[in-house]
Amino acid sequence: MAIKTIIEPFRIKAVEPIRMSTREERERKIREAHYNVFLLHADDVLIDLLTDSGTGAMSADQWAAMMRGDESYAGSRSWFRFEESVKRLFPFKHIIPTHQGRAAERILFSVTCKPGDIVPNNTHFDTTRANVEYRGARAVDLPCGESRQTGERHPFKGNMDVAALASLLDEERAAVPLVMLTITNNSGGGQPVSMANVRAVHEICKRHGVPLDIDACRFAENAYFIKQREEGYAGKSVAEIARELMSYADGCTMSAKKDGLANIGGFLATNDEELARQERDLLILTEGYPTYGGLAGRDLEAIAVGLDEVVQEDYLRYRIVSTDYLGKHIAEAGVPIVQPPGGHAVYIDAGAFLGHLKSLEYPGIALAVELYREAGIRAVEIGSVMFAHYDPETGEETAAEKELLRLAIPRRVYTQSHIDFVVEAIIDVWRRREDISGYRIVYQAPFLRHFTARFEPLT
Ligand SMILES: Cc1ncc(COP(=O)(O)O)c(C=O)c1O
Repeated sequence: MAIKTIIEPFRIKAVEPIRMSTREERERKIREAHYNVFLLHADDVLIDLLTDSGTGAMSADQWAAMMRGDESYAGSRSWFRFEESVKRLFPFKHIIPTHQGRAAERILFSVTCKPGDIVPNNTHFDTTRANVEYRGARAVDLPCGESRQTGERHPFKGNMDVAALASLLDEERAAVPLVMLTITNNSGGGQPVSMANVRAVHEICKRHGVPLDIDACRFAENAYFIKQREEGYAGKSVAEIARELMSYADGCTMSAKKDGLANIGGFLATNDEELARQERDLLILTEGYPTYGGLAGRDLEAIAVGLDEVVQEDYLRYRIVSTDYLGKHIAEAGVPIVQPPGGHAVYIDAGAFLGHLKSLEYPGIALAVELYREAGIRAVEIGSVMFAHYDPETGEETAAEKELLRLAIPRRVYTQSHIDFVVEAIIDVWRRREDISGYRIVYQAPFLRHFTARFEPLT
């Protein structure tokens, strides 16, 4: 086709109104929320880019499938449909449903890890890290060197540093119960991992006899990037690429709230019979019977259809191009972002954007507050508030390596004019960046403090 514009490959059947607000109103709302966007009412947000997790729009086919939901406690039709759909893309022997990704993580690490163990990952997502640490094990990030050069473009910045993994296993093999690979690498900028990297990690794991598990939340976006960027994959379907990715792993964890195109759900999978038995025992204790695992039959149906839809290339082309569109337009205006834009999100380098602020003046929070004030846009800080090492005994704090603001795009929710609105708002804030001041924390919880922390402006 000669027309270059890539359109949303869907029509809108049901609409959800956005309540417009004034700057004065938003000024009051953010003050009442103690300058933490997590504490805002969602109704007071115009464009919500807090997360792409569970915030997507379902298709007519998914809603229709929900009506077919079989709510039998054990062995429901919906379970068998779910299992079949999952196995088409994740050909593991055992599939264990959970209510979301972190439940799969908790079960996996409860069964595999003990205090003192080490779990290497390209970059742990925060719940993954928290679940590893909750078992008394150590979560070690081994991102590739390119991932540290925020502004440099590289096709697979989500890769793991294979040399670092090999030397860790040479020295500490006995302490490593499994290796994880997160695709795409969310905390590392939503960047993809190449097939060559997955294969190399698999070879090292095999040599040392260590299982490899994939955190597969955004497997379809990652597979699409491989198709676009890696030699030898242009002619393969996304489903084939996904299956090849999984063939190098011994199991996976999955949040269906991302590339399951559902609002809730997840699963874990393994080829290991004994591990599956232990995982199911734990599942029954906290999530539910192994044919529903904390989900209603209708949720299983929504995920079964979602997994078929997420690998469709028209959808993925629109998805990746619309994220890129946002990144490209703000970068052209000079806004520093992690390059290239990720699959599900654009990450602004808040540390460079607000170069006059120190890390512990929380530039990511300052920028999040300012974007909300300016245009009612909600985004999330991924920096020192989320990841600093804070010692509650001494009150000492070490800044995170990067101060980012993540603009995560919900799936099939916003149109191009919404994204144009976001671009304009960010550029307006960029033009008056020197007038933006920092923040200090006045309350924080001992774990995952970013959700509930309270802030005060420094001036
Ligand atoms: C890479 C990654 N792993 C795990 C999770 C946890 O999934 P859930 O939010 O469904 O518990 C997330 C959620 O954002 C994620 O991005």
